[in-house]
Amino acid sequence: MPESVVDPVDTVTEVPVAVVGAGPAGLMLAHRLGRAGVAAVAVDLRTREEIATTHRAGILEADAARDLVETGVSDRILREGHEHEGTELRFGGRAHRIDFRALVGASVWLYPQTEVFTDLADARERDGGTVHFGVRDTEVLDAATDRPRVRFTAADGTRHELRARYVVGADGSRSTCRGLVPEALRTRYGTEYPFAWFGVLVRAPASAPELVYAHSEHGFALISQRTESVQRMYFQCGPDERTEDWPDERIWETLQARVAGADGFRLAEGPVLERSVLRFRSFVQEPMRWGSLLLAGDAAHTVPPTGARGLNLALHDVKVLAGVLLRALGGEGEAALADYQPLALRRIWRAQHFSSWMTRLLHTAPGATPFELRRQLGELDSVVATRAGRAYLAEQYTGWPTAA
Ligand code: PHB
Repeated sequence: MPESVVDPVDTVTEVPVAVVGAGPAGLMLAHRLGRAGVAAVAVDLRTREEIATTHRAGILEADAARDLVETGVSDRILREGHEHEGTELRFGGRAHRIDFRALVGASVWLYPQTEVFTDLADARERDGGTVHFGVRDTEVLDAATDRPRVRFTAADGTRHELRARYVVGADGSRSTCRGLVPEALRTRYGTEYPFAWFGVLVRAPASAPELVYAHSEHGFALISQRTESVQRMYFQCGPDERTEDWPDERIWETLQARVAGADGFRLAEGPVLERSVLRFRSFVQEPMRWGSLLLAGDAAHTVPPTGARGLNLALHDVKVLAGVLLRALGGEGEAALADYQPLALRRIWRAQHFSSWMTRLLHTAPGATPFELRRQLGELDSVVATRAGRAYLAEQYTGWPTAA
């Protein structure tokens, strides 16, 4: 019996690349391919509104910021983003600035992921790219063959099938695509952390001109910004912490204690607009390709947010992947795909190391001994006290050149 009788679809679309996941990685990939004249259709289980209002990290490497502008996504980042030429580490109650510009001639941009997503979704719409948000029952079929398909139910209830040459799984940290790689062929590397971040959006003026990463005996805190009147802050909490146990006063008391010091630094307070607990882990799945399926971004690897690497890594993956797919579709064939993993993976493992190092450097493990706390202060001191230490942090945090 022909399959269409078993599970009829309302439309069948032939498209070179089908992308599962329409977050920043999936949309940037579709955008890059579209610019080169190769169509890509993206689908996502979440509605556009859901993605646009899920608060995520906020730091873009200068190269990623420039790519948004130069590939024609949008130049809004130049007007509404903030270029940061350094960051602050606080420990032992004192501030230590890491001057990215002076140390490694680099900078980063504070521009929230939600804005990157909005720019990309707008650009897809402007350029006539197809994106189906709010779909259900997504299924990738025949990924091992050279005629992979993606089936899904659109938000209006109609059934669709994409017949592609390649399928990209850019479906985030809870990826279902990565599970398609047979267990016997894949390896998953990872580690868990005994803490999470409590993230808040607050209505208050900025407390500092740049990000503040604070180590204290009470745990880690990160002070970030959003707009003149809205700020983003995080503090280390237990992985099972519940937001309902955290009234505004308790949040402020916790944050103030973690940044307090002899210099009298205090955060400007205001009402808490949103609160959430963010669990994280370090994770990589290899290989990043199986047959006609390629994994990109969080679907293939996740990092703790401490090093601000996640979004940057995802954007780097799709930059490399777009080049490889264009070569494959442009006549080189499948052989070109062999370049994807080695080019992406080197940066992925560097970012895994840096993210995990920053996390361990700044967080207080539950039950940490006085020795461990002092050892951490020794490590922090050795980072800030020498030019080599500061330059190491600056170099990792601001990113590495694109793999060619
Ligand atoms: C943020 O602004 O949300 C942010 C910035 C830096 C990080 C993580 C989150 O490392």
